Amino acid sequence: TQAQIGVTGLAVMGANLARNLARHGHTVAVHNRSQYRTKALIEEHGHEGAFVACDTPEELVAALERPRRVLIMVQAGAPTDAVIEEFAPLLEPGDMIVDGGNAHFLDTRRREAALRERDIHFVGAGVSGGEEGALLGPSIMPGGSKESYQALGPMLEDIAAKVDGVPCCTHIGPDGAGHFVKMVHNGIEYADMQLIAEAYDLLRQGLGLTPAELADVFEQWNESELSSYLIEITAEVLRQVDAATGKPLVDVISDQAEQKGTGRWTVQIALDLGVPVSGIAEAVFARSLSGHAELREVSRALPGPSGATAGSAGEGFAEDVRQALYASKIVAYAQGFDQIRAGSTEYGWDINPGSLATIWRGGCIIRADFLDRIREAYEAETKPVTLLAAPYFTDALILAQESWRRVVVKAAELGIPAPGFSTALAYYDALRAERLPAALIQGQRDFFGAHTYRRVDREGSFHTLWSGDRSEVEA
Ligand code: 6PG
Repeated sequence: TQAQIGVTGLAVMGANLARNLARHGHTVAVHNRSQYRTKALIEEHGHEGAFVACDTPEELVAALERPRRVLIMVQAGAPTDAVIEEFAPLLEPGDMIVDGGNAHFLDTRRREAALRERDIHFVGAGVSGGEEGALLGPSIMPGGSKESYQALGPMLEDIAAKVDGVPCCTHIGPDGAGHFVKMVHNGIEYADMQLIAEAYDLLRQGLGLTPAELADVFEQWNESELSSYLIEITAEVLRQVDAATGKPLVDVISDQAEQKGTGRWTVQIALDLGVPVSGIAEAVFARSLSGHAELREVSRALPGPSGATAGSAGEGFAEDVRQALYASKIVAYAQGFDQIRAGSTEYGWDINPGSLATIWRGGCIIRADFLDRIREAYEAETKPVTLLAAPYFTDALILAQESWRRVVVKAAELGIPAPGFSTALAYYDALRAERLPAALIQGQRDFFGAHTYRRVDREGSFHTLWSGDRSEVEA
């Protein structure tokens, strides 16, 4: 029998996706550059379904029914190009190469265009959910042509997570659209993680709670509108005790956060698109700051409040922090969806934000109950310009905002960094402002560079003769 799909690259994500496919009754041809991984997969999991072990790309291609589907699960960047170059010459018109790694969407656009010339469909598919998701049901964000989705979609929907019976997989849009939304997903993931980390820090320092007590708090929060995968695993991490020292694990983990790049790309691209994703940016910078050991070392002596005294934050603080977390999280998602709209317009992808929210409800790292509310907001008759203005979220922000403000004030007072909370609140206040001081910036620009400004009361561009008689001229 011929295999329905081939998987090349059998590190944990590739191996788990192959197993997931096989467990769903598909015959899966598997290949890895070094053969020990192929052997290990067959030995350990061969009984889970129908696998065809292949030693070479030629064997893999020969094992596949047509049109062929080859899923590449290798490191993003040059390794992906190398594998494409290996397989593309072996394929025929109408065949498909799927890249399930965290590729940069601009690379995906380039690869898609190049392979289209050769009549091969290239599908950049974002896959979220980590190792467990890959095996048990990830959220899948495939880009590429409509034809490729017809041939590939049912299989991907089959292995994706399901929420209310709906698969967490849908065709996102042409060429790089899938990897673009996966990138922004990760940007939102960074923001969400940073906000949760700030909430932990504020409660720990401000209330003097232990990690185990904080695990209880997060567990309770997981029963509220904050209910999400990231809150759930936060409780688990906080409860973990280090076997070697008997201390809470969180206290023996180095406090320098790493990153592989997707969050940074989100911000770089947001700058190019002109989308203010301040919450995501702050989260990327916070990770970066944490890693600057020397800078932190010399800065330890800088003056500030003498460390928060346990319990000084007072009653109601935990609930305030919960509300602040929720409000800031809404801002982060709103910014991410703004970026997706901007990207969709720039690249002509026609991405449907409602269906994206739908497939993020399960499988992926940012899965959360409130994605259902986002879906509803985008499915409503009047589409919100910003999620903040969708009635459900406006109501949530009304409820949360006094707490939100108190938390930002308290953090500043106690000298606890809360960049995610503060920037989210600043974004919110800036959006609602009747007038912004940007008017003054325009005045300054006109002063030193004759850059001109527009007026609120008349059409046109204007310049004040700053070094002359200071009268205004039309530019
Ligand atoms: C997911 C994750 C996954 C991965 C990223 C983030 O959606 O399953 O986002 O893609 O964990 O690589 O990693 P960094 O924090 O290292 O950037």
